[in-house]
Amino acid sequence: MNKIKIGAIGVGGIGGHQLRVASNNPDLFEIVAVCDNNVDIAKRVADEYKVDWHTDYKELCKRGDIDAVIVALPHYLYGEVVCYALECGLHVFKEKPFAKTLSDAKMMIDSAKKSGKQIFLAGQNKFSSAFIKAKEIADSGQIGDVFLTRGAIIYRWGGAIDGVWSWRGKEELSGGVAIIDAGWHILDMVHWLRGMPCAVYATTGTMKGAPKADYDVDDKAVLILEYPDGGIASIVSCFITLPGEMRVTLHGVNGCLDVNGGNLTFMIADKVQDVNIPKQEIDPITLQMRHFAESIQSGTESPVANTKRAYEVMQIVDAGYRSAKEKIRIEI
Ligand SMILES: NC(=O)c1ccc[n+]([C@@H]2O[C@H](COP(=O)([O-])OP(=O)(O)OC[C@H]3O[C@@H](n4cnc5c(N)ncnc54)[C@H](O)[C@@H]3O)[C@@H](O)[C@H]2O)c1
Repeated sequence: MNKIKIGAIGVGGIGGHQLRVASNNPDLFEIVAVCDNNVDIAKRVADEYKVDWHTDYKELCKRGDIDAVIVALPHYLYGEVVCYALECGLHVFKEKPFAKTLSDAKMMIDSAKKSGKQIFLAGQNKFSSAFIKAKEIADSGQIGDVFLTRGAIIYRWGGAIDGVWSWRGKEELSGGVAIIDAGWHILDMVHWLRGMPCAVYATTGTMKGAPKADYDVDDKAVLILEYPDGGIASIVSCFITLPGEMRVTLHGVNGCLDVNGGNLTFMIADKVQDVNIPKQEIDPITLQMRHFAESIQSGTESPVANTKRAYEVMQIVDAGYRSAKEKIRIEI
């Protein structure tokens, strides 16, 4: 297999990490160029990999010597940048969330269809051994019909605590945080394990929880999801407090399944079942990058990181914000 020639757009944050992961897999990827509109960041990262640098993403996309781009940007830029990369004939590995808005997500899907190139939606929890095992058990049907689901994501993001919000603190640039950004991780996992809800009720509260409150985005959210089979879910998301949590619990008529970080508890009635979670020999972000390479090389969209799933998660996000704003239950 030929190596995938790769460029990266937005390399000052998580994009720089994704690039490092790609470069740590030289059997699959060759780094060709990087782009960041902060010239110091662009030069520093290019220097590290001894590759070309750009400050204009269009220049990078038009080079003609790359196959794919890693894109990790402020959310408002995704629609424009991803569509341009696709039009230039590039596959796209993009960070979550899918987009700032549902219409941006739709535009990217249409653009991918036209170009015949793939958009791969990063979200590393689907590559964690505990979640993979949970998915296997959930799909086996052993816990029976799931009547109640609980999801929580809690962490303390230094940027909010120190008041260094940058683009994240402005709704106009990020689209929000508690549901679309932090919340994406948990909604992605609840969707993966439980499927698509038919209605959403959400509230994001109005009291500012971070000490340096120079922001106009949601810093906490609670969502209630309703499923077509009558089941319900509650989701809590907050990125300004502790103790940290990344947890999904499915309660079924025969038993329950609880993924709490890297731990998994599986019960049938009141009996804890033996579960053998394979040791996480390779970290989830590396597995994800390797899976991206496979998807491109096989020409088959990823079953877990594809745009259909991501669009559905985006629909939940959109319904959540509409519900919180209009204070009504939104049917999807
Ligand atoms: N998977 C995860 O766990 C995870 C973690 C953090 C962030 N993210 C996601 O990654 C994305 C980026 O977040 P971040 O925290 O890395 O943000 P960041 O602000 O730290 O980094 C964004 C980078 O993009 C650059 N940039 C901004 N505008 C640009 C433009 N027009 N052209 C080129 N470069 C530009 C900035 O200079 C910066 O270096 C977001 O979608 C976020 O939700 C995912």
